[in-house]
Amino acid sequence: MRICVVGSGGREHALADVLARHHQVVVTPGNPGIPGSVPDDPEAIDADLFVVGPEAPLVDGLADRLRAAGRLVFGPGADGARLEGSKAWMKEVVSAAGVPTAAYESFTEVEPAVAFLATLRPPYVVKTDGLAAGKGVLVTESLDEARAGVADYLSGAAFGDAGRTVVIEEGLVGPELSVLAVCDGTRAVALAPAQDFKRIGEGDTGPNTGGMGAYSPVAIAAGDVVDDVLARFVQPTLDELRRRGIDYRGVLYAGLMFTADGPRLIEFNVRFGDPETQVVLPRLRSDLGELLAQAAAGRIEQPPEFSDAAQVTVVLAAEGYPSSPRTGDVIAGLDDARSLDGVSVYCAGVGAGPDGALVTAGGRVLNVCGRGPDVAAAREVAYRGVEAISWPGLVVRRDIAASA
Ligand code: AMP
Ligand code: GLY
Repeated sequence: MRICVVGSGGREHALADVLARHHQVVVTPGNPGIPGSVPDDPEAIDADLFVVGPEAPLVDGLADRLRAAGRLVFGPGADGARLEGSKAWMKEVVSAAGVPTAAYESFTEVEPAVAFLATLRPPYVVKTDGLAAGKGVLVTESLDEARAGVADYLSGAAFGDAGRTVVIEEGLVGPELSVLAVCDGTRAVALAPAQDFKRIGEGDTGPNTGGMGAYSPVAIAAGDVVDDVLARFVQPTLDELRRRGIDYRGVLYAGLMFTADGPRLIEFNVRFGDPETQVVLPRLRSDLGELLAQAAAGRIEQPPEFSDAAQVTVVLAAEGYPSSPRTGDVIAGLDDARSLDGVSVYCAGVGAGPDGALVTAGGRVLNVCGRGPDVAAAREVAYRGVEAISWPGLVVRRDIAASA
């Protein structure tokens, strides 16, 4: 097949890399570090299958427009993508589906929101209703900080219109797990689970980011955990969407927290996770393109197969991420890192610099991945790769997968 991947980050680089094992791949717009990148509008590209990476074009109806033009598309239409585009709507859908999730209320006015906060126990959780690139979630032990967050969100000062409705949730505590399910509108199959590190700082401190690293497999997902997630979280949601006339063909990414009272849904994303994709897909043994094409056509025939090998990815970010990343620094050592046994590097926020060099061009710049027989070995390989790479102000967490 000729497959078109839409997007420009490390997730799309990993998608393209794994799809290219069996297929011809073009990436739009991609970036100067992703082979096969073309600047063309996706609607002007000829391909047998389109795989849409990021949430924004999905929420914006790109999959609908491509389907209307007769294309085979892996990714939900705007109707299903609303699960990620509006947290308040997502909460309403999953409540109707009977999915275990944190208690919540949504607000558009400061006063009732602050009054509700005062009835909760810490940690306090305040979220933008709309899209905020993974950064619109405030989790804090301080009631004052939560109150200030509510005011900043609702005024539009913090996240523009995305924050003019806020969702306030019961604060949950426990380890997190990302389960990415591939859905064909009716049924779902799970990819290997991963764990993501959301905070910018070591020891899970500082503000939330899009994700600073990830690993797979995950010990807490052993046994029948994944089947349970499919049965109690994913399938009821797919069924509820169907009841509402929504034919959901794409990834349904369940972000879960394993609390003392059992697993709870934190969020649904409508796309592959970033950086989870960079540790999950390279472990795939079966043909990814075939699986996504089957899902896009409405009939998954065979579940994916994964190798036992582990994969760890460490995000290298620019100084100032997540608030205001500095760009334009020349990236050194990429080829040295890639020459190491078991290391691969995916390019996320990179741009073209002088003399063919790559420069930093976004918050999360590179994903350095290590492969090994288990997570500890893969982690060591990944950090060997990290050591080879440098630019002024590079930000990296040293504790990715350390406690795994
Ligand atoms: P989200 O974008 O909704 O996944 O939230 C980002 C991160 O915030 C999650 O990965 C959790 O670490 C944290 N978080 C979100 N919701 C809650 C909650 N209800 N209780 C505790 N932590 C949460
Ligand atoms: N890594 C979290 C996300 O993709 O939303």
